[in-house]
Amino acid sequence: MYENIFLRAFQAFHAYVDTFRDASGKLEYAMQAKLGHTEEVCRITDLIMADGGGFRDEDRLTFRLCALFHDVSRFEQILRFHTFLDAASFDHGNRSAELIVEKHFLDDVSEKIRSCVINAVRVHNKFAIPADLPPAHIPAAKMVRDADKLAILRLVIRFFQGHENDPSIRLDLPDTPSFSDSVLETVKARQCVRYTDLKNVNEFKLALFAWVNDLNYGASFALASREDLFGQVRALLPEDPRLDELLRETRSTLSARSSAP
Ligand SMILES: [Fe+2]
Repeated sequence: MYENIFLRAFQAFHAYVDTFRDASGKLEYAMQAKLGHTEEVCRITDLIMADGGGFRDEDRLTFRLCALFHDVSRFEQILRFHTFLDAASFDHGNRSAELIVEKHFLDDVSEKIRSCVINAVRVHNKFAIPADLPPAHIPAAKMVRDADKLAILRLVIRFFQGHENDPSIRLDLPDTPSFSDSVLETVKARQCVRYTDLKNVNEFKLALFAWVNDLNYGASFALASREDLFGQVRALLPEDPRLDELLRETRSTLSARSSAP
């Protein structure tokens, strides 16, 4: 039953994405990248769930629906505003939650699952999980936030290793040398950096290190450790002993928390 529900939602999602294709069936680069990102968030969600956790079938369906719809507003965002910068367009978590209702994507699932998916999607991109999120919705919010961050780390690594340069992926930031000490200090203090405080691509890469403090499931830490995601990001940054130290600290956090539930 749960498989069929997911399949119908999957088909509805793709039918919606198809409305953004041109006459030859192609999506523009930024939209295609977001479609690939969504598929990756779905795969990573399955990987985290496969690594224990004792989730029930209903939880698994909920988490998979969160992954599928978390960025559904990104297509409209690119079409209307030509950017992934929320500050220059709309809050894409809020808008994705709205679209789930507006496009009737989840009308055939239970109210319990639908409200959880809508809330988790709404908060997936927020600086922190809001204190007023219903407790029952917290595991889904944590799952989609983890899978999203891990997928973005993979995407950023692929993007910069491949020397691609589409401005949408690097949040329209300039690719200038160096980075500010204040961003490094914020990350070293284990605090997240706000996107609006980033001045260039190096600071964007550096800010990713703060995410090691914003993962939730042990399986998420384990995946980041196994794929050495932060080692790969560090390799994309300039020579600087302070960054080597940051990487050492990050790797030890990952291995310490990999065995937690
Ligand atoms: Fe997102």
